[in-house]
Amino acid sequence: MFQINENYQKLPGSYLFSTIAKKVAAFTEANPDKDIIRLGIGDVTQPLAPAVIEAMHKAVDEMSKAESFHGYAPDLGYDFLRNAIVENDYKARGCDISADEIFVSDGAKSDSSNIQEIFGAKNRIAVCDPVYPVYVDSNVMAGRTGVYDADTEMWSDVIYMPCVMENGFVPEFPKETPDMIYLCLPNNPTGTTITKAQLQEWVNYANKVGAVIIYDAAYEAYISESDVAHSIYECEGAKTCAIELKSYSKNAGFTGVRLGYTVVPKELKCGDVSLNGMWARRHGTKFNGAPYIVQRAGEATYSPQGKAQLKDQVAYYMKNASMIKDGLQEAGYTVFGGVNAPYIWLKTPDKMTSWEFFDYLLENANVVGTPGSGFGPSGEGYFRLTAFGSYENTLAALARIKQL
Ligand code: MLT
Repeated sequence: MFQINENYQKLPGSYLFSTIAKKVAAFTEANPDKDIIRLGIGDVTQPLAPAVIEAMHKAVDEMSKAESFHGYAPDLGYDFLRNAIVENDYKARGCDISADEIFVSDGAKSDSSNIQEIFGAKNRIAVCDPVYPVYVDSNVMAGRTGVYDADTEMWSDVIYMPCVMENGFVPEFPKETPDMIYLCLPNNPTGTTITKAQLQEWVNYANKVGAVIIYDAAYEAYISESDVAHSIYECEGAKTCAIELKSYSKNAGFTGVRLGYTVVPKELKCGDVSLNGMWARRHGTKFNGAPYIVQRAGEATYSPQGKAQLKDQVAYYMKNASMIKDGLQEAGYTVFGGVNAPYIWLKTPDKMTSWEFFDYLLENANVVGTPGSGFGPSGEGYFRLTAFGSYENTLAALARIKQL
């Protein structure tokens, strides 16, 4: 008789955004006349940039002719994209990353959940609390998190680094020494970030204790302050301790297109073993390459037109972020984030729990957000709104919230 991976049985509930989708579907069914505004999951709403569309059309046409048809993509990514990444995302920022350290993928969600596979089962992970649920859940599936305590909503073997109002949402070095440290900066869900100098301290700490940092930079394009690093490799010593994950979902609207990449520097080693080689082995075995059409779309994000169009798109969403932030503040809410990231993190009013506020907002304003507690116990009493809605919907949602 076959056996299942028992670790899956340990996962409490369903994936956060599936739970929310189910709740919203039930509300819609019971209230078909209500016009729901969705500011929950961080899904983009603006169409792909013209430069991206043009590149995709061209690539589709190439696929229609035998002489320019493309079958399996190189498993680690086409050189045209890997070179564009090196030039634009790294060299332009003074980071010494080479094309063979870039692994093109179908997005940062898969990479952030898969990357743990190349690490030992006994490694202790440290996560910010609140945290993007994928980091913890993927380690639960791998059997690395110990026992779940339903009262505290914590795993016995996970090291939590609370990021709350009181510490300015800046993670502090944990008392216990971790082996793997997940950092998402600018942060999902709090929308806050840390300075390059603070990030350098994390790099120094990781090198000192022999930990690896899994650095999720999915929201990098939203950084507006000059003292914030766009890549962890801007910090000295990061190549011996950090893996960086990047996504085209948020900066280029590729949530439905699917493209991302992971950087594993060759200098990152465990003893004599190169993690770059391990990830290449894993990627080559389990992944057949992002589609040619999609990689051409990714390349187009780096053309002069593509860059200008994406800058406008980011500005569009950040205008929403400022509007939500200012509007909620005027309405008396305590609000964070929204300066270097497209998320607004607010304190729930009147001591409501995160889920109470979720229901209250859904029922009374017909606005969907994300309960902070869904991201971890320290998210309790907070609530996340995304700036990725359309301007009109964001304006309307704000007007409704203000009327409550
Ligand atoms: C979020 O809403 O946290 C993100 O959109 C989820 C994701 O990127 O997978």
